[in-house]
Amino acid sequence: MKDVTILAIETSCDETSVAVVRNGREVLANSISTQIPLHELYGGVVPEIASRMHVEKINLVIEDALQTAGMTFDDIDVVGVTYGPGLVGALLVGVVAAKAIAFAKNKPLVGVHHIEGHISANYIEHLDLEPPFLCLVVSGGHTNLVYVEDYTNYEIMGRTRDDAAGEAYDKVARAIGLTYPGGPKIDKLAKEGNKDAIKFPRAMKDSGYDFSFSGVKSAVLNHINGAKMKGEEINVADIAASFQASVVDVLVEKAMQLAKKKNIDKIALAGGVSANQGLRSAMEAACQKEGKKLYYPGLKLCTDNAAMIGCAAYYEYLKGTRADMTLNAVPNLPLGKK
Ligand code: KG4
Ligand code: ZN
Repeated sequence: MKDVTILAIETSCDETSVAVVRNGREVLANSISTQIPLHELYGGVVPEIASRMHVEKINLVIEDALQTAGMTFDDIDVVGVTYGPGLVGALLVGVVAAKAIAFAKNKPLVGVHHIEGHISANYIEHLDLEPPFLCLVVSGGHTNLVYVEDYTNYEIMGRTRDDAAGEAYDKVARAIGLTYPGGPKIDKLAKEGNKDAIKFPRAMKDSGYDFSFSGVKSAVLNHINGAKMKGEEINVADIAASFQASVVDVLVEKAMQLAKKKNIDKIALAGGVSANQGLRSAMEAACQKEGKKLYYPGLKLCTDNAAMIGCAAYYEYLKGTRADMTLNAVPNLPLGKK
């Protein structure tokens, strides 16, 4: 079969990223311009600033990716782009850029679901990984247990009923004085703390495979306020370690229960929180115990990047998915069976 080279664009949140991906799994370029230092000043992503920065950076990042791949637009076969879910103004910048390239160069256009991208990040460094498998998607906006039936069909088996895992990390981090994004900082701090120091709740029962993180988040805030009122010093490392343990315990427990029940022997992690060392090692231990194979993307591929979008776009392209010039940003695009 002829090679398929995809130019992929991702602008759903605070990363402007453009990648060149050959045949789905070979990354020739993955340029990422992060806006994190800018949003750090405000304690979280400011949508209006995100859109403006994407507009400023998109052409430079496209040029950078093409240059890294040693290619021009003429070497590209397909244009892939995230069209949801995400911040509407941010998504639109990528969608408009992708449509302009596809139109000017007369190339097929493929719209990609952001979470499908996160899941597909696993294929890039694990050439042996093929569906079906169970994927635990944990990002700033999503917490889902997804049955990946094949490359383009997904069934959501569990979801968060309130905060996403990454969102809980970011909120707790803020409460203990860490800047956005708090996930990686809590992860680091947790290594210095005692995970049994404080007993935070684990929302395990009565929710099937769904998750809830607002309880643990409130418990952390109550713990901090209680200590303040009593004039006691808080131990931020112990809070980080105990909070992380309560989140990781629930994620691991539910993922393993579902894998056992459905008899699935491969489990993958995806999304920004899959970079978490505590989650990775707890999942490794659980999978080893149960005889399951665990996959997770390399650190750069866990958080938002366009290589994962290029990978997902490839499998969508093979299936025949095509978008036209009416492609629009869909901020709450659902993931599911097509
Ligand atoms: O997937 P992502 O880049 O963006 C979304 O699609 O949401 O995920 C970003 C989220 C943030 O909430 C960030 O705090 C969290 O992933 N995160 C982590 C770690 N690295 C990033 N959370 C826990 N531990 C980490 N090491
Ligand atoms: Zn993401």
